[in-house]
Amino acid sequence: MNDSNPQRIAVVTGASRGIGAEIAKALADQGRHVVLVARDAAKLAEVQSEIESAGGSASTHPCDMAAAAAVAAMIEAVVETHGRLDILVNNAGITRDGLVMRMSDEQFDDVINVNLRGVLAACRAVAKPMVRGKWGRIINISSVSGLVGNAGQANYAASKAGLVGLTKSLGKELAGKNITANVVAPGFIETDMTEILPDAVKDGARQITPLRRFGQACEVAAAVAYFASEQASYTTGQVLAVDGGMTMI
Ligand code: NAI
Repeated sequence: MNDSNPQRIAVVTGASRGIGAEIAKALADQGRHVVLVARDAAKLAEVQSEIESAGGSASTHPCDMAAAAAVAAMIEAVVETHGRLDILVNNAGITRDGLVMRMSDEQFDDVINVNLRGVLAACRAVAKPMVRGKWGRIINISSVSGLVGNAGQANYAASKAGLVGLTKSLGKELAGKNITANVVAPGFIETDMTEILPDAVKDGARQITPLRRFGQACEVAAAVAYFASEQASYTTGQVLAVDGGMTMI
């Protein structure tokens, strides 16, 4: 279904697998042209062909989100190719877990560079084309770790909490330009990122989740698709936890 005219252009980072690939498919289902961004060109091409086989429209743009200059150049190239950029989903993210007492500066910086600095670079670069288009949707993928903290993830939680403040500030700065900025904060979702966790951690996660299971990437994608829709025009600066009730108070 295409609920917009002209066709809106969306950039999804970390779209080579997991949650990002599902978000890209959901936006393509809405009729958007989706630019798939990650580092691995071959994996991006696979997601592109899946979207095209389903009748959607997509292209790829390999980019390392840790390199702010490359991120700005990627956004510029998308705008040059398509003449517009309407939707940005900052989904790329990494973990480098460790207890604070043992965490190296490198572990901290690596995570901040991809999860927070890369997002800032992308948001800064899309602001102008979105203002020009008089419409915009920015959706940043945080985490329940950023909302309530998590032992062993001080770097990751700091980056994901930082995204919440960044997004709310952007929401306030850009509201007058008809641009919304919102956060989706997933709980435990079945992807490569959580596959590597020890079984005991996975069991513990299910026990503290009221819905008693891990979420699916498509369940996160559905929340992103809402924030990206034309209908979400009166919602900005919000944080939607898709976490099986884990952070319910
Ligand atoms: P994943 O590890 O399966 O996929 C991450 C994606 O980001 C991949 O496409 C990867 O290539 C890309 N990426 C990583 N570093 C990059 C870089 N420097 N430049 C460009 N692309 C890069 O992760 P998953 O599970 O799909 O997570 C997606 C987002 O959701 C992340 O931001 C993650 O922090 C967040 N999240 C995931 C949860 C989960 O349980 N899986 C829970 C809460 C948040």
